[in-house]
Amino acid sequence: MKKLEPTARQLKSERDRLSSLGLPSLGFCDRDLRTAAALTWRINALKKLKRAVIPGHVYQRPEILLGVADFVGDSYKLAKLCAQTQAKTIVFGGVRFMAETAKILNPEKTVLLPASGAGCSLSESITAADVRALKARHPGAPVATYINTSAEVKAASDVIVTSANAEKILKRLFAKHPQVIFIPDELMGKNLAQSLGKSLETELIIWRGTCIVHDKFDPFAIALYRKRYPGVKILAHAECSPSLVALVDFVGGTGGMMEYVEKTEAPYYMLVTECGLGELARVRFPDKKFVFMCRLCPYMKLVDLPSILRVLEKPEPSDAIEVPADVAAKAKGALQRMFELAEDTAPL
Ligand code: 13P
Ligand code: SF4
Repeated sequence: MKKLEPTARQLKSERDRLSSLGLPSLGFCDRDLRTAAALTWRINALKKLKRAVIPGHVYQRPEILLGVADFVGDSYKLAKLCAQTQAKTIVFGGVRFMAETAKILNPEKTVLLPASGAGCSLSESITAADVRALKARHPGAPVATYINTSAEVKAASDVIVTSANAEKILKRLFAKHPQVIFIPDELMGKNLAQSLGKSLETELIIWRGTCIVHDKFDPFAIALYRKRYPGVKILAHAECSPSLVALVDFVGGTGGMMEYVEKTEAPYYMLVTECGLGELARVRFPDKKFVFMCRLCPYMKLVDLPSILRVLEKPEPSDAIEVPADVAAKAKGALQRMFELAEDTAPL
């Protein structure tokens, strides 16, 4: 495909647009803005030409979220919006399980992942054979599976959950079943057992996967931050350890954390999660103060503007997400069950 070339004037106006979106507040200097503008201008032009959309998970780089993403959110919001998009092509700003989810929901569309190595430690911790073995060991127990899993694992599950709805969906499952299997996040499973008042291994059966970003946060640092920043509100992702979760003011997914910041007043906020969320929060809430205990996800950060431009300009066969039709059909059923249960407002 012929390369699109912006004029000097178009480049200057794209640089000004990026500047107005808040990137300078995250440390982008004039040279960074000009480098980003040359890429975002081309990406946005190609998106129009190819009828493509870019969903961006909140852990993506800020120049992606602010410069080229069409919708930004947590795993649940992105899955829901991908199910509704009219675009021909989806270029996923996120990791493989998210792009696979988009493909499962849109088998007729082209779904491209700009970085083939963008995996997830949770997704890699379990196989479909493991799920089948768990089911055989606990007959009759429904399998609620975190969205951070492969298409094959989703296909072997009864219902998918995300951090935004895991508690609600598990409550509904427990209303009908004495035992529920939750996979693969061990720490989130322990946090859910605690909040639902269920005992591990008899009522809630869990797996041993962890997120390599969230399992490393140190609960001992929390008391130090509280002393150093009086009044700080500390928010932790539900993938963190129960010993850390016990010490914080709010626990939930990235969507819930952003909502908490929006709806509360505090002298400082600390978001114990991947660093991208804090950067986005600083841009969205410029009048609030943020202190940082964050870590980078090495998988999420594999996607950048050059890789997005590359897949739009000249996609390789290995950039396209493919899910076998029988796997996709079963996985779609489990995702649809999530949408139904997550949106269900009937009292228990
Ligand atoms: P949510 O944005 O859905 O909370 O998920 C966090 C995560 O770790 C995604 O990889
Ligand atoms: Fe996976 Fe953790 Fe990275 Fe999310 S932050 S993609 S759960 S490794």
